[in-house]
Amino acid sequence: MGLISEDIIRGVIDRADIIDVIGRYVTLKKYGSNFKALCPFHTEKSPSFVVNPDKQIFHCFGCNVGGNVVSFIMRQERLEFPQAVRFLAEQMGIVIPDDQEDASSPSKKIKDDIYKINDWALQFFHERLLTSREPTAQKAREYLKARGVDLEIVKQFQIGYAPDEWDALIGVLRSKGVSPEVMHQAGVVIARDKGGYYDRFRGRIIFPIFDINSRPVAFGARAMNDTEGAKYINSPETPVYTKGRHLFGLNMTKTSVGDEDVVLVVEGYMDMIMPYIHGVKNIAASLGTALTVDQIKLIRRYTSNVTMLFDTDPAGQSAIVRSLDLLVDEGMNVKVATLSQGEDPDSFIRQQGLEAFRGRLKQAQTLFDYKFSWLSAQFDVKTIEGKDKICQEMLATIGHFKSEVSKFELMRLLAQRLNVPEEIIIKQAKGQIKFSSVPTRTSVKEVISPAPVKINQTPKAHEELLIALFLIDHRWAEEAAKLVELTDFTEGFTRDLVATIWQMTQENLEWKTSDLLASLSSEVAQSFISRLLNDAGSRTSEAPRLFQDCIGRIHKDRLKIHKQELMEKLKEAERRGDTSVVEELRARFQEILKP
Ligand code: UTP
Ligand code: MN
Repeated sequence: MGLISEDIIRGVIDRADIIDVIGRYVTLKKYGSNFKALCPFHTEKSPSFVVNPDKQIFHCFGCNVGGNVVSFIMRQERLEFPQAVRFLAEQMGIVIPDDQEDASSPSKKIKDDIYKINDWALQFFHERLLTSREPTAQKAREYLKARGVDLEIVKQFQIGYAPDEWDALIGVLRSKGVSPEVMHQAGVVIARDKGGYYDRFRGRIIFPIFDINSRPVAFGARAMNDTEGAKYINSPETPVYTKGRHLFGLNMTKTSVGDEDVVLVVEGYMDMIMPYIHGVKNIAASLGTALTVDQIKLIRRYTSNVTMLFDTDPAGQSAIVRSLDLLVDEGMNVKVATLSQGEDPDSFIRQQGLEAFRGRLKQAQTLFDYKFSWLSAQFDVKTIEGKDKICQEMLATIGHFKSEVSKFELMRLLAQRLNVPEEIIIKQAKGQIKFSSVPTRTSVKEVISPAPVKINQTPKAHEELLIALFLIDHRWAEEAAKLVELTDFTEGFTRDLVATIWQMTQENLEWKTSDLLASLSSEVAQSFISRLLNDAGSRTSEAPRLFQDCIGRIHKDRLKIHKQELMEKLKEAERRGDTSVVEELRARFQEILKP
């Protein structure tokens, strides 16, 4: 990750409201001037996770994790600092200048080239569909018209047509000065065995795929009849395109998704386009696969509510089932809507219209009901083996829920459905829960769930108090710097922290807590500070007395150490019989004992 300038980091932190950001992941309840929630970083039954809107910090008194809005995103999204800043910036529409972007591999230059090539290709295909007089282009327009895709939609989605030629796009890109090797890296051409290249997409309708920032990253190309080759040919993975990282259409619908606070996830290009045109604006397509963790994280920036609506065929339904545990792992609320056999969202909405479509969405099943009926269709609930199998599979999914309450409620429901006593389900769960039914895919959360933060070199009580005072009013830091030395503080974490605070105070008395948190790289320091900040308020009135006590304590400690040192030197000199040194040391000893 490249460096992001201090100004931008500060801008991002200033503009990101911690209540807003954290509220997207957990349910915050007002609690005095703070907010409380169940900690997303450890399992708990009563909330010890506190968010303070004034100080823009959070702290969990259960697992001792805390920090500012960036530290929260780092933990929650498992990102490094610069990525977390970018993540927040993107949500707020703050543009981080390109020249500061990721300089690591693959190089920014090649990525830029590929975006440009994709853009040229997109323009070329689109232009061809709109204006070309050749008969196959004519056919493409007729094909789309027959599927209900009119000119308006073609323009909105920048749909195109790739001529049925071996080097139409190659010619265009060559005229722009693009080398064949770079065309190949962009994935728009295929290398011949004997050398040379040819166009990857020929004689097909082109659907451009955009990333969340509306940059063209890949293409899907549909055959115009169902006899020739694969129905869709897609771009390969390239430096700008990784399969399963994007959702088709989300760049256009992200705002609606956020506003409506739910996203409808469908499978195919046309399954996204048609409902969108009919008025379903909070929709995106996974493009023929189960949802990936990356896609879920992308969605979670805008909402934590997902309704899945896949094809009714076994492939579609099993893709849903495969998505469920991952969605639960990521803390999403899931519902599943279904259509009748042989229908997909595209055909359904065109035949039955928006109201009927919305009706289906309203009837969406809960995750529990959906998975239960999916299992019931495969195993016979009436047989012992069937019951057993269904129980195991359901418990596997239930085990993914973080909240103990949810787990318990779902197990109760399962007991009812299977018509067995609750205790039996709970007993069964004890031996099984947390183990996914698919042994190869352990929950991501479980693998890298963050360890509670431990402070190794704990500050002494008076040091902690002093640092708390520094945070309440920076003048205490200024004052302390005059009265005591850095070396008076416990070496390591404590001393480093005080050094940072003093430095910041010296530069500008008005520094902000968020700046301090931003400049502390260690998680330990972040958590320590956020904890102090959270209980700092109560001490304000006694501050002067506390300050004097702490400083006095440090002076006393210092004296004690000094005395010990002198004493040792004195003993040493006496042993050597060095009378003059003994004399001098005794004098100094008298000196420091004076009040
Ligand atoms: P479907 O087979 O359900 O196609 O695949 P569809 O979306 O209904 O396509 P239309 O309506 O006939 O045009 C769902 C999605 O799976 C991917 C595509 O993204 C498609 O939209 N897919 C399917 C491929 O990538 N390649 C294929 O050969 C088929
Ligand atoms: Mn279809």
